[in-house]
Amino acid sequence: MRKFVSLSIGVILITVLIVFTQAQQLSDKAQLGRELFHDPTFKGTIKPGSKPGNATGLTCANCHADFDEKENPDGLIRAGHSIIGVPGRGSAKGGMITAENFERAAGGGGFCYEHFLQRIAGDKVNPTAIPEEHAEALMAYFKAVSGDNKGPQFKMEMLDTAEKTAAGEKIAAMSGNSETGWELFGRACVVCHPTPFKAGIGTQLVRSRAPRDIDKTMVRWASKIRGGGFLMPFYATDILSDQDIADILAFLREQMENTAR
Ligand code: HEC
Ligand code: HEC
Repeated sequence: MRKFVSLSIGVILITVLIVFTQAQQLSDKAQLGRELFHDPTFKGTIKPGSKPGNATGLTCANCHADFDEKENPDGLIRAGHSIIGVPGRGSAKGGMITAENFERAAGGGGFCYEHFLQRIAGDKVNPTAIPEEHAEALMAYFKAVSGDNKGPQFKMEMLDTAEKTAAGEKIAAMSGNSETGWELFGRACVVCHPTPFKAGIGTQLVRSRAPRDIDKTMVRWASKIRGGGFLMPFYATDILSDQDIADILAFLREQMENTAR
């Protein structure tokens, strides 16, 4: 009897294992999409360099999770939303990508492909310039990892210049906690700004000489974080709250005041 029970448990465990590994298996197309999502060269089709059209070294995974961040948080804060649920959205980039070119533009990923991976200016980007085979592979991957999960619900916030300035002024007037700011900086910003004192893809933020008007710099920086820059991605309010940005600025201001001679 005992033997039979342990045998049955063994069979059940093996069955569960087989079902589990099958669920993990991706089609060839989705597997290609998964690799592209993590590949700054897009399978060697983007070359390194600093000219428009050359690789920045960024990958989709630097700014988007490919899992449900609410259900399985890993602590990182990414500028873009999770790609879970993208296939069901039907339009992207606040209406810039419509139903007709949605699949061809990889659900909006075609914009990021040119802009963030190849530093092509936002107003020159063609979101359907991504090779068709790559757009299809990314969409197949998004479908495979989404299942029927609708993903994060959010409103696309693309601020105009006046709105960016207003947001910057509002945030810079708030007081922040530099210790929390240090933590947030580590979770969100080090991908591109390795430390406040070092340049990466992003610029060196704190220099040995403090800016002439720190308050003014803080307003400019707050509006940059909320509104984005050229390669600097914008952070929407559901990703970094006004208070989060105020905390990060408190940290950067402290570093600036401690370092400045
Ligand atoms: C430097 C950061 C960054 C990189 C790198 C990046 N993205 Fe994005 N992406 C964003 C931001 C910011 C948005 C706008 C906010 C959002 O929708 O999540 C966005 C938007 C999107 C959207 C549309 C969301 C919507 O519904 O409007 C998709 C899909 C997407 N990105 C996929 C990709 C893919 C695929 C890659 C790689 C080829 C990529 N992104 C690389 C930051 C990035
Ligand atoms: C995907 C890369 C990337 C990420 C992530 C990123 N930045 Fe940046 N950041 C840049 C780049 C590149 C610049 C240079 C200007 C530009 O291209 O917009 C920049 C510029 C800035 C500036 C303006 C500096 C100046 O003096 O003009 C500030 C402030 C800044 N980043 C803060 C942050 C903070 C805070 C975070 C995290 C919340 C962050 N950045 C995340 C890439 C990034």
